[in-house]
Amino acid sequence: MKIAVLTEQAEGERRVALVPESVGRLSKAGHKVSVQAGAGEAAGFSDDDFQAAGAEIARDISTALHEADLIPAIEAPSASAVSSLKKRAALIGLFRPGASAELLESFAAQGVTAFSMELVPRIARAQRLDVLSSQSSLAGYKAVLIAADSLGKFMPMMMTAAGTMPPSRVLVLGAGVAGLQAIATARRLGAIVEAFDVRAATREQVESLGATFVEVPQAADVETAGGYAGELSEAEQARQREVIAERVKSSDAVITTALIPGRPAPLLVEASAVAGMRAGSVIVDLAAEAGGNCELSEPGSTVTRHGVVIHAPLNVPSMMPLHASQMYSRNVLALIELITDDNGALSLDFSDEIVRATCVTHEGRVVYGDSDSLTPGDSGAA
Ligand code: NAI
Repeated sequence: MKIAVLTEQAEGERRVALVPESVGRLSKAGHKVSVQAGAGEAAGFSDDDFQAAGAEIARDISTALHEADLIPAIEAPSASAVSSLKKRAALIGLFRPGASAELLESFAAQGVTAFSMELVPRIARAQRLDVLSSQSSLAGYKAVLIAADSLGKFMPMMMTAAGTMPPSRVLVLGAGVAGLQAIATARRLGAIVEAFDVRAATREQVESLGATFVEVPQAADVETAGGYAGELSEAEQARQREVIAERVKSSDAVITTALIPGRPAPLLVEASAVAGMRAGSVIVDLAAEAGGNCELSEPGSTVTRHGVVIHAPLNVPSMMPLHASQMYSRNVLALIELITDDNGALSLDFSDEIVRATCVTHEGRVVYGDSDSLTPGDSGAA
């Protein structure tokens, strides 16, 4: 199979979809991988690294793109790149399918079979492909470092000749993949950590990491069948914000990670709660891409309000592009292995739950939200 890896075009995107390690695996398996010159530079991978792994470096990627059977990407390639893909080529990336109807139409019009990595089901067998987890975990870690860097305090307790400095207090809101990693990181740095989530199952996870679970009375557990959170009632949300405002007041750093799939991020920290924090405290809002969990967050910016520094970074994984690319690449490689046969040709088994769930366009149709229309056993071979 011919595989083409492009330099990512989105502003601020420093990751690359395949790293040399994965290219080596694919080359050994007999695939021919072309990598656009400089594609891995921002992530710390040189053209020489790719070449040593068996890739061909293309100054002009257009021929490789036109001939490619498979294009692993992070963001969608440009419209002109898509229009040069051959029919039935497979495209893999993070396409935000719920908010990208036009993009999916363009893939379908080109006859491309596209797979969106956000749609990998949260089942044990799919863990190796779970991009949401790999990238969220990185973001949770980085959020704590951003907070530590902005704080005018130590995270751990420090006993010095100049006296004892108390540890920082960190509050983590949302204890999913990013939140749990934030808790673990803040604990490693020696902070006192509290955390809260609407899903009852998280209490044990929070406590096992050495943090205290914040008690917020709520009518019922809102965990949905898929393991995600549902929305609370208006009254419950108001009660939650009240309790959180109290905890926020005594925190040096607040890391917010709460998300509800397909909905704007829930508002957890109101402006009045920020006003109640000590000057010099820090908020890192990891939910910025979905609007933010803090009322005063400005997605993509860092602002100071009431003396509190509020970070609302976008694309946090891209701030750690080397490991983010490595993890993404391993997730993508696992999908590639799932959609190729022993001879290294594309072979789409739509009876496989993972293949079916991730496929968003196939044979000229948008199949996102309509995976029942995919025929089990379709080879999809070019
Ligand atoms: P997410 O990114 O959608 O949400 C982050 C967290 O915010 C969640 O824990 C959610 O409960 C919480 N949240 C939502 N509304 C909230 C509110 N009002 N207040 C406080 N917290 C709120 O979730 P993520 O991190 O993607 O994980 C979702 C679930 O999937 C978890 O149960 C996780 O354990 C599970 N999972 C399962 C995997 C597997 O079995 N392969 C792999 C990864 C995750």
